[in-house]
Amino acid sequence: MIKRRNIITVAIDSPAAAGAGTQAKLISEHYKLFYLDTGKIYRYIGKLKLINNKNFSYNLVRKKISKMKLSYLNDKKLLSNEIALSASKVARDKKIRNIVHKFQQKCAYQPPKKYKGSVLDGRDIITIQVKDAMFKFYITANVKIRAKRRFEEYKNLNKKITYDEVLKSLKLRDKSDKERKYGPLKKTKDSILINTTKLSKKACFKKIKAIMDKKLNN
Ligand code: C5P
Repeated sequence: MIKRRNIITVAIDSPAAAGAGTQAKLISEHYKLFYLDTGKIYRYIGKLKLINNKNFSYNLVRKKISKMKLSYLNDKKLLSNEIALSASKVARDKKIRNIVHKFQQKCAYQPPKKYKGSVLDGRDIITIQVKDAMFKFYITANVKIRAKRRFEEYKNLNKKITYDEVLKSLKLRDKSDKERKYGPLKKTKDSILINTTKLSKKACFKKIKAIMDKKLNN
């Protein structure tokens, strides 16, 4: 069991492209919290799988994760649709999830001392990774809106992909992430639902900030 410091912990889960990453970043900046985008770890492993193909093994993943630096997660290549789909596939595997668990726990409960706490976003954060978090949010949005937003992001990154392909990919990942056996995406009763379909980034953060300030200032 990892030693827990007395810190602010924020846990966020969401389907792909619902705006959770943007909100997590805003929360981390405003409250001076350490931010970990856990999806990037699965994308990193998804990329390993695509590159290594037949040589991909649990040992390889273990070795790579033990040596992984946070800066590796900033690799722009991890943002591709091909890697997102590969990530969603490797993420179904219980052994892979267990390998990633320790790294995430350390970030959540023992962030670098200069931070006042941590914010993690992903698929199993409110349910497993940081289920005792001080704040738990489930962020979602209509799938067509999510596809539109992700399509715009891809366009800005000069990625050649159509809106229909993005929509299809999101639906596939939603299904896989929600229906898988280990660490499925689901809303918990004790988490707060934020639907970003009709909310701007600013309006969404305002809502989250009001909820957090109310508790923190009490
Ligand atoms: O959040 P992002 O879209 O980058 O995540 C990529 C994939 O990684 C997801 O579709 C999901 O299958 C997997 N993932 C996960 N658990 C997390 C974060 C991401 O299974 N905590």
